[in-house]
Amino acid sequence: MAKRPKTAVFDKQARKYAVKREAALMVDWRSRLLKAAEGRVLELAVGAGVNFPYYPSGVKVTAVDFSTAMLEHAKQAAASSNLEVQFICGDIESLALPEQSFDTVVSTLSLCAYDQPLAVLRRMRRWCRPGGRILLLEHGKSTNPPLALLQKAADPLLYRMLGCHHTRDIGALAREAGLQVERTERCWLGMGSLIWARP
Ligand SMILES: C[S@@+](CC[C@H](N)C(=O)[O-])C[C@H]1O[C@@H](n2cnc3c(N)ncnc32)[C@H](O)[C@@H]1O
Repeated sequence: MAKRPKTAVFDKQARKYAVKREAALMVDWRSRLLKAAEGRVLELAVGAGVNFPYYPSGVKVTAVDFSTAMLEHAKQAAASSNLEVQFICGDIESLALPEQSFDTVVSTLSLCAYDQPLAVLRRMRRWCRPGGRILLLEHGKSTNPPLALLQKAADPLLYRMLGCHHTRDIGALAREAGLQVERTERCWLGMGSLIWARP
């Protein structure tokens, strides 16, 4: 899918993501992961700002997304929180940011959407300072074989409808990108991965 139609796919879903934020879904996973965030935080593919309530106080967030509709909702979420957020509208797959300039890099439910997820994980490593944290909450191929088969069959349709793939092996991608994975947990019938890593 070309980038412009893809931004349109996410623009259309922005309202739904804002509603999900209000419904505070996945509170447990998001809060457990994000309490490890500190200092200068880079949040990639911020969507409607659903993670904002779960950051510890004192962090400074730089939030990126290429959907202007998502960013509008995220700006409203930031305004009603005590969080300091700077927004960048851009394509994460081609964005230029200073190397080693963030203490924490966060990505939730986003590695499914990139054309080159491995390259984005390598970018995360470069943008994070040595010894910093990379925090991931992602979905992909289930550890349950029958469910993984179903995901494979449904993937072309889901990608057209939602702009995201359901067959990626997130743990394997993180390791291939050279991340030092310190802890992993699985959720959602083995489809979800929570990963605490260092660059
Ligand atoms: C499934 S939503 C997840 C939003 C949020 N992170 C969450 O946890 O709910 C995926 C987000 O990734 C953004 N996105 C996808 N590909 C992108 C890219 N190449 N550059 C910037 N943003 C992108 C979409 O606009 C969308 O907001």
